[in-house]
Formats: sequence, structure tokens, C-alpha cells
Amino acid sequence: MAVERTLILIKPDAMARGLAGEILRRFEGRGLVIQDARLVRVDRALAEEHYAEHAEKPFFGELVSFITSGPTLALALEGEGAIAIARATIGATDPADAAPGSIRGDLALAMPDNLVHGSDSPESAERELTLWFGG
Ligand code: RTP
Ligand code: MG
Repeated sequence: MAVERTLILIKPDAMARGLAGEILRRFEGRGLVIQDARLVRVDRALAEEHYAEHAEKPFFGELVSFITSGPTLALALEGEGAIAIARATIGATDPADAAPGSIRGDLALAMPDNLVHGSDSPESAERELTLWFGG
């Protein structure tokens, strides 16, 4: 397995609940290393670009309002197999389906408040890291 970098977003619901430290601890505990970090007030343009793959979905408007509703902590994390490891650490998209032990399974209750975003493939990670950190 190769060393990878992945984009993690600690989303506004997590920031509002004071969970940034707890969430970061779980990624660091897993062995992932923080390469870069930035506290971002996401504007509409960045939100729409980040979620471009969901532009035609019925929940797109809700997604954009959610991510622009407060500060988001963007992280570039690095490690062996970082993309899949981070996704497993985060848990299933809907907190109701997320396994106990995962971030969403332990700390989230219901959509859309699922706390965290993680890149879902090497291609997404590259695109998203460029978008949020410029490469
Ligand atoms: P993320 O991108 O945030 O890491 O989450 P994910 O890969 O597990 O889920 P994805 O399919 O990429 O969806 C992105 C975000 O869209 C919202 N969503 N709402 N109402 C719905 O059916 C629905 N499905 C997805 C969630 O906020 C999800 O995180
Ligand atoms: Mg996704």
C-alpha cells in the first residue's frame, strides 16, 4: 500500500459542537499525519465546486447551505492507505448506518449532520487537495 494524502473536512456541525479536537485525535490516533490545516469560511463558489459531483442531486442545495453555515477545518492528512483508512475511521455516510467505533457511529445521530468529509478515491483526493490547499 502506497503513502497517500487525503482531504478531511471537519464540517460546521462538528465545529459548532466543539468536536474538532476529538475528531482530530481519532485520525492522529490511527497514525495519520497532519500535512496541512486551514480554518475556512466556505463561500458558495467553493462549496459548489467541492460538491460538483452532487450538483444534480435533490439534496445539493442543503449540502451547500450546510457547508457554508459556519467555519470548516480543512486538513490534508498523510499515511499508508490514508484515503481508505480515513473513510473507515469516519464511518458510513448516514450516521444511522455508521458502526459504533467510527466517528459518525459514536458522535453523530442523523443526516445532514455527519460531522466529517473524507476524499473517496485517489482522483477525488488529488482534485480536492488542489481545490482546498492549492496542490
Ligand atoms: P463525504 O463526501 O461528506 O465524505 O460523505 P460521503 O462520501 O460518505 O457521502 P457522499 O455520497 O459523497 O455525499 C456527500 C454528502 O452529501 C450529503 N448527503 N445527503 N440526503 C441524502 O440522501 C444525502 N446523501 C448524501 C451528506 O452530507 C454527505 O456527507
Ligand atoms: Mg463523498
